[in-house]
Amino acid sequence: MNRKIIVLDTTLRDGEQVPGAKLNTQQKVEFAQQLKRLNVDIIEAGFPASSAGDFQAVQEIVRTVGDSVSVTALARAVKSDIESVYESIKLAQNPFIHIVLGTSNIHVEKKFSRSKDAVMQMGVDAVKFAKTLLPEVQYSTEDASRSEFEYLWQTIEAVVKAGATIINVPDTVGYAVPEEFGELIRKINDRLKNLNDKVVLSVHCHNDLGLATANTLAAIKNGAEKVECTINGLGERAGNTSLEEVVMGLKVRENYFNCHTQIQLKEILRTSRLLTHLTGLDVQVNKAITGENAFAHSSGIHQDGLLKDKNVYEIMSPEEVGAESMELILTARSGRHAFRNAVEKIGFDTSNPNDFEELFAKFLQLADAKKEVYDHDVFYLVTEHRKIDQ
Ligand code: KIV
Ligand code: ZN
Repeated sequence: MNRKIIVLDTTLRDGEQVPGAKLNTQQKVEFAQQLKRLNVDIIEAGFPASSAGDFQAVQEIVRTVGDSVSVTALARAVKSDIESVYESIKLAQNPFIHIVLGTSNIHVEKKFSRSKDAVMQMGVDAVKFAKTLLPEVQYSTEDASRSEFEYLWQTIEAVVKAGATIINVPDTVGYAVPEEFGELIRKINDRLKNLNDKVVLSVHCHNDLGLATANTLAAIKNGAEKVECTINGLGERAGNTSLEEVVMGLKVRENYFNCHTQIQLKEILRTSRLLTHLTGLDVQVNKAITGENAFAHSSGIHQDGLLKDKNVYEIMSPEEVGAESMELILTARSGRHAFRNAVEKIGFDTSNPNDFEELFAKFLQLADAKKEVYDHDVFYLVTEHRKIDQ
């Protein structure tokens, strides 16, 4: 059976924790709308207890896209955090509360200075409280990959009995390696299915050793049903699992994984570019799928092979991830319609008429000077224009 993998995007929570990636509410809403077009299953919209601004942004995201996308937000295992999450997401169509609590010795000892049993009880109490508010509760065993397996399992068993409906296994510090992480997921999955086969098994990996995508794919191969990722791999330190890499990994190697997602592949590049624009954080040029060179072939031998048959050096086509919309060549004769189309195709909003007219005037000046205007020219034109106006 070809399994559907649930995709949770946490760009607006884990991604937004990155220094320099702070977005205002309007920007978060714009990005959430694009995530809806990308067709992610779940948006993790923020950490509402962290600030009034975050709380308000989560509410706005729910108001804008919560009727068609499931929304969650993060809480520590404390009542006030859980209440904040509930209050901010309760109007979404399929909301759920996400609780995180550490299971590794180092977390239990250094963060909580309590006994392991007491920490586990905190988790159970938090789940029981969350269940009085919403039927769906996700529990993340923070630092799972560095936890003692029996304590990790006892915690999972206890929180599932308390009502958790999704168990998320994070490789919080990017310590895992694929074979070992896959084995961990297989062991948890075997036990979990015996305990309660309705509980969804999820993974959340970080990229400190550059292994986040590999670990996530190994987890899927071993039974994970849901993955947490971010666009461009944005996230704490070296980042999170990159959504586009996992999704295209499953697509290109579908015969191997026998899994699929509901992601609209053609929206991938647009989503990546929008995030770059909103955060100002560039994607490395050789980044898989979304880097500028991801589909560029420069060596003569490769070009020769490609001319004979593009499958010689291409395992996926740039068009599949939305690149054809980038191949626009505008001139001074291109009218407003073509220009608007070009701006929107790379993910920018054109709904403000005055702003659009100013942009169009700048485009005409550029087209006069440069003759041919490419997608990257349009991208810089808009980002420069918005910078000046801020
Ligand atoms: O990295 C982590 O452990 C997290 C949890 C909140 C899932 O971000
Ligand atoms: Zn994380």
